Amino acid sequence: MMGERLYVGIDLGTYQSTIASSAGVMTTIETVVGRPKDPVARNFLGRDVLFGDDAMKNKLACNLYRPMAAGVAQDDEANLAAAKAFVTHLIDAVDPEEYDEVFGVICSPSHVSFTDKSNLVATLRGQVNAIMVVTEPFATAYGIGEIACSIVVDIGAGTTDIARIYGTFPTDEDQVTILEAGDWLDLQLMDLICKKYTGAQITKDMVRKWKEEFSYVTGDVREVMVELSVEGKKQVVDIGDLILESCKRIIPLVGSAIKKIVATADPEYQPILRNNIILSGGGSGIEGIADVMADEISDIGDVTVTCVEDPIERVAAGALVLAQDMPDEQYTSIV
Ligand SMILES: Nc1ncnc2c1ncn2[C@@H]1O[C@H](COP(=O)(O)OP(=O)(O)OP(=O)(O)O)[C@@H](O)[C@H]1O
Ligand SMILES: [Mg+2]
Repeated sequence: MMGERLYVGIDLGTYQSTIASSAGVMTTIETVVGRPKDPVARNFLGRDVLFGDDAMKNKLACNLYRPMAAGVAQDDEANLAAAKAFVTHLIDAVDPEEYDEVFGVICSPSHVSFTDKSNLVATLRGQVNAIMVVTEPFATAYGIGEIACSIVVDIGAGTTDIARIYGTFPTDEDQVTILEAGDWLDLQLMDLICKKYTGAQITKDMVRKWKEEFSYVTGDVREVMVELSVEGKKQVVDIGDLILESCKRIIPLVGSAIKKIVATADPEYQPILRNNIILSGGGSGIEGIADVMADEISDIGDVTVTCVEDPIERVAAGALVLAQDMPDEQYTSIV
């Protein structure tokens, strides 16, 4: 409808990105862009650029770009172009052309540095009229009404971001970021599988899917049978013990980062913070993680650890609520 403003919340993630709009659209797309490798691939695919699932299904015929991945030089031409194409595609999902203006709250991966932030603005120019950039934990806390006093632990793909939230925009001192997150877990599991089954032919994508389906950190070792190739020959093997072992490895690392965030907080707030620890991000889907995390950090006193619902959409949903609540002065115009 003309004459109207559309609000969007955008979670640009290392692995997947989500957009939520004030018109009720919510879409998640894997943060990957494919370009046909050669003219044969171009003719066969019939398009110049592929996104998300579509790119993954045709990955052998494409050069793949993950423009938000950790360690990606964001000023590299190809990745910058991929980022721009990806963001345009993501925003197209909410039909921005039907509105006069689009105001967006954006969360980008915490490893995207300041210079990259100006790239982020360049990427969004022409798509969005005004933006506000916030962190993932803050957007999550805002969306679930927990900004008064909480610790949000976003276990993503590229990083785990741990932030204390107490009623205002958090500063850099209120957040700790560690590199152990979903991608790291995949590498741990991959390594364990290759050690146990010598010659196993597995990819990161295979391992990630197994982890997403079977991850757990509590109880007895389970049997998890998966199919893989060993030197081209099909084998069905049990990786249940390896999933448990790899998932457990992240617990003390995240645990000690949480303790640090508690210990450096105003002492009067520490008891409340300890009892409102919220796990989010895809990694919070590890079965049993809240209880095991609570055990891990129980030496600092009484603690309460919970997981958000719908972790994959939580950040974008929170960013959208924030977008609608903030006065125009909070936005930076980018047209
Ligand atoms: N049930 C599950 N158990 C364990 N891990 C899971 C599960 N579901 C998703 N994940 C993992 O969560 C990660 C994706 O989470 P999320 O979408 O929060 O990350 P992201 O926003 O793309 O990354 P980042 O925030 O680091 O930029 C992936 O590593 C994925 O494999
Ligand atoms: Mg994320």
